[in-house]
Amino acid sequence: MAGKFIVIEGLDGSGKATQTEILRKTLEQRGERVTKLTFPDYDNPSSALVRMYLNGDFGDKPDDVNAYAAAAFYTVDRAASYLQFWRADYEDGCTILADRYATSNIIYQMSKLPENEWSDYIDFQQDFEYNKIKVPKPDLIIYLDVEPDVSQKLMSKRYSGDESKKDLHEKNVDFLLNCRRSALFAAEKLGWVRISCTENGEMRSIEDISRDILNVIEG
Ligand SMILES: Nc1ncnc2c1ncn2[C@@H]1O[C@H](COP(=O)(O)OP(=O)(O)OP(=O)(O)O)[C@@H](O)[C@H]1O
Ligand SMILES: [Mg+2]
Repeated sequence: MAGKFIVIEGLDGSGKATQTEILRKTLEQRGERVTKLTFPDYDNPSSALVRMYLNGDFGDKPDDVNAYAAAAFYTVDRAASYLQFWRADYEDGCTILADRYATSNIIYQMSKLPENEWSDYIDFQQDFEYNKIKVPKPDLIIYLDVEPDVSQKLMSKRYSGDESKKDLHEKNVDFLLNCRRSALFAAEKLGWVRISCTENGEMRSIEDISRDILNVIEG
């Protein structure tokens, strides 16, 4: 019996790592067996093409690698991770918690296409990953929505003002603005649960957001 599979999705700096870790602890304290994943799997050689892409090896703009090619780099990394590391846990009924997943392709890569192709792109990506490659399909996708100017501030804080540490996506503000549009489109079309993480131009507290997440999970 497969376990419950929950994805925490969101743009850069939206609090995914923070919230995924809090949720892991909470569910484990309740006695659930939890396997936490983070994508891309930067520590695994399977993410080599993703790292090359984000490092600018194929061009210094996100658009230098098209929506299908770049998505394929990330898809391969996820397939490898599944086969190598968490297939057994998933099939054994563990709760799987993922910080990003196939859903990130839909946010980041779809934004490179004209809007009239978005719906087809979603259908293609979902069919490719879940039906053809057969990585598991999540049961619940929680989308942490952060207004882009707020997340930019958070990221600058994380990199201590050193803009050169940002990756190809992170340093391109226009690209991230468009990614938020594609995220809202996907959330609507695919029934992702959107949690609004900002209020009056600031982040809401970590505790308030984690309480919202728990409420969603408890239904
Ligand atoms: N609600 C919050 N309020 C203020 N700061 C926060 C909040 N949530 C997270 N942070 C801080 O914002 C930064 C980004 O958070 P985190 O690493 O969890 O986000 P992320 O979505 O995983 O980012 P990335 O997409 O870049 O991996 C961290 O320094 C974190 O401590
Ligand atoms: Mg993160």
